[in-house]
Amino acid sequence: MALTGLFLCVFLIAHLAGNLQLLDMSPEGRLKFNAYAKFMTTFPLVKAVSYLLYFSILFHAFDGLLLATQNRKARPVRYAYEKAGANSTWYSRRMALLGTLVLVFLIIHMRSFWYEMHWGAIGVDADGNKDLFAVVEAAFGKAWYVGLYVVMMGVLAFHLMHGFQSAFQSLGLNHPRYMPLVKNVGVFFAVVVPVLFALIPVWMFFFNA
Ligand code: HEM
Repeated sequence: MALTGLFLCVFLIAHLAGNLQLLDMSPEGRLKFNAYAKFMTTFPLVKAVSYLLYFSILFHAFDGLLLATQNRKARPVRYAYEKAGANSTWYSRRMALLGTLVLVFLIIHMRSFWYEMHWGAIGVDADGNKDLFAVVEAAFGKAWYVGLYVVMMGVLAFHLMHGFQSAFQSLGLNHPRYMPLVKNVGVFFAVVVPVLFALIPVWMFFFNA
């Protein structure tokens, strides 16, 4: 879980960097984004990494749910007195729920963009590339869809807030000297990445001339 989780974190950085191009809504910006999308869906090495990505998502989700089920089975009778908040955060105890919500978001997200890019009846731009920018623009023209993304990026933030440092713990990389640094990097990552992701739909909704 730790390895697939960290790989998914690396993917998030790359995916964010690519998608921040959407903030440039000029005619040239649109063409550039579509050319980038074409490269990402056709270049063989990127395609190979994509398959590793799909596997990681499925494995991470499946293993996470299995772990949550085992934890529940290990203690069928709940503690009579439990003060979990004394030594753990609420989001660390709700990782399965937060992860499931992220998975639901991913299904909606991939249906909207990834499916359209690969199999949808999508138009082409002036350069002859599939006009994925127009698909994203239409989706983020709807207030409810923008709201969904903002809320879901909040969910992702809490999932990452615990997940990032937990991965280092699971891998045994929890040296007392480095753990405070890992925790700080984790908090920074868990806040900055979802906030920048959330900025994209909000920006496209409000600044689309
Ligand atoms: C505003 C935020 C986001 C935007 C604008 C965005 C945009 C896109 C677009 C346009 C695609 C289709 C690209 C293609 O098929 O080549 C895509 C695919 C994908 N997105 Fe996002 N995305 C966002 C956030 C996220 C987040 C937060 C996650 C994960 C939690 C995510 C996970 C994925 C995955 C797994 C794919 C499939 C990638 C592949 O086939 O290699 N996206 N996204």
